[in-house]
Amino acid sequence: MNEIINEAVFAPLANVAEPKWWTGTPAIDPARFVIDGHEYRVAGRPLTPSDELSASMRQTFEDVGLVHVINTGLDDLESMRLIATQVPINQRKYEGGANPRKTLQANVFEVGAPLEAWLHYHHEMAYIGSSTKMIGFLAHKLPSKGGATFVSDNVQATTDLLATPFGQKLKQRGLCYHRNLTDRNAFTDKLDIGVYNHWQQSMMTEDPDEAIAEARRRGLDAQWGEGGLLKTRYTISAFEYFPQLDRNLLYSSMADDSMWFDTWPLVQHLPIDQRPLKLTFGDGSEMTRDEKQEFLDVYDRYGIPLDWEVGDIALICNYRFAHGRPAVELKEGEHRELGVLIGDAFDRLETYPDKW
Ligand SMILES: [Fe+2]
Repeated sequence: MNEIINEAVFAPLANVAEPKWWTGTPAIDPARFVIDGHEYRVAGRPLTPSDELSASMRQTFEDVGLVHVINTGLDDLESMRLIATQVPINQRKYEGGANPRKTLQANVFEVGAPLEAWLHYHHEMAYIGSSTKMIGFLAHKLPSKGGATFVSDNVQATTDLLATPFGQKLKQRGLCYHRNLTDRNAFTDKLDIGVYNHWQQSMMTEDPDEAIAEARRRGLDAQWGEGGLLKTRYTISAFEYFPQLDRNLLYSSMADDSMWFDTWPLVQHLPIDQRPLKLTFGDGSEMTRDEKQEFLDVYDRYGIPLDWEVGDIALICNYRFAHGRPAVELKEGEHRELGVLIGDAFDRLETYPDKW
């Protein structure tokens, strides 16, 4: 790396909107979703799968859409994965994620984002036609302080947002996800300034024609832009019908806006219109700053912290909850590593007119 870089790339722009994550009181009583591993363990031994544990996890997931198993006595990802899969999640390869994830273990993926960045509340893979019903986390390595993941009760958030003019506008106009994927070959000797993901990685090919074809298979409008950028556009509802509750739920967030990069090194310094992601209404019209703030705030009002201990396992319904996390500060020698499990795929249905 022989490039001299300007300090500015490590500084955020002014006026960034930092999420508050929660009100200080969890939106749902943890007694409804926490399962204490001690109740399912032989004293002195780590937690192992059992019919009782499996039944309890399934029932909790069915009722609440959220399960947090604590006090497992485990510290390796494979054993945690065996507990997590007590709730059938039909794991699949992580395809179509716009940010890079390296394989951590078979079917367990690292969270592909810098720790210095906070990750706004989001629904996993909301920006492509094939989404996921569930996401799971396995707490593998944690810092001494902080490092929590937050979930937001999306059922309450939906009702709240639909009662506002902004919510009605979202319902009527839908959303457009704008993405600019960089060309890996343009960065061989350079720092990845302004890079979110390269098209080669996102589309899993080195062939430009195949990349366009793959984008279109994913339901994206795709074309080449200046400097080898692959520009994709995806227009879809901001909501998604959730069969179990028989209603349309919010299924989008500011995580897919340029705001996502407010604290990403090497991207945060860029003006909004040069960032790799942007969210507009479905007709291409821009959201105002106030509207974006409303979109952030609604999830913060229904937030719930998941305060991890090593060995914890959480399963999160991707319809009923959004998830995110504050920035993580690591001391010397500390790590934060969560295994991620992606559940069953489903094709976006969008909404039904009589299910609001
Ligand atoms: Fe996520």
